[in-house]
Amino acid sequence: MPAVIIYMSLHGCTEKAAKILAEMSWVKVDLVNLRNHPAPSLDKYSTVIVGGSVHMGQIQGKIRKFCNENKSELLTKRLGLYLCHMSEGEKAVQQFNDAYCEKLRSHSVAKGLFGGEFNFDKMNNHEKTLIMKAAGIDKSISTMNLKAIEGFGRVIFHLDKS
Ligand SMILES: Cc1cc2nc3c(=O)[nH]c(=O)nc-3n(C[C@H](O)[C@H](O)[C@H](O)COP(=O)(O)O)c2cc1C
Repeated sequence: MPAVIIYMSLHGCTEKAAKILAEMSWVKVDLVNLRNHPAPSLDKYSTVIVGGSVHMGQIQGKIRKFCNENKSELLTKRLGLYLCHMSEGEKAVQQFNDAYCEKLRSHSVAKGLFGGEFNFDKMNNHEKTLIMKAAGIDKSISTMNLKAIEGFGRVIFHLDKS
């Protein structure tokens, strides 16, 4: 059965993680960006991965809505949840817990805090000013955690058993 990754990405980091995960799988993985596609029917998927990123402390509203509206079906799937973010430690964990409800978190077989990127080439002026003020950073940086992405992929796609 194919798998699906349903995600949203402002500047491409969450999408990058989705593509890395998709490449790890032996089965076909559909990628659905909720920014420009409607939420797919989950009927044909046994594995569902949901990915979003944090802006101003919040995951994208469309990801939150998708999880709320499909909660009972997601609870029947092999489920993975991940988040891209730049906060670290407890704050990152708190943002993950705020993004995905307790039921989905405890049902999921893989949970990922993947780090993130500040990509100044893709930010508008408002975003640049905000990040410079809030994080004191004025050039592009990446904290993307490839090991975390690969570990998540190995679990969700059963790769350690093959
Ligand atoms: C305007 C703005 C606000 C952000 N706010 C937060 C935040 O509140 N907490 C956090 O951990 N990261 C925050 N970030 C960092 C993003 O989560 C990070 O850039 C992530 O890689 C974005 O992924 P995306 O490009 O796939 O949307 C913010 C980034 C921007 C540009």
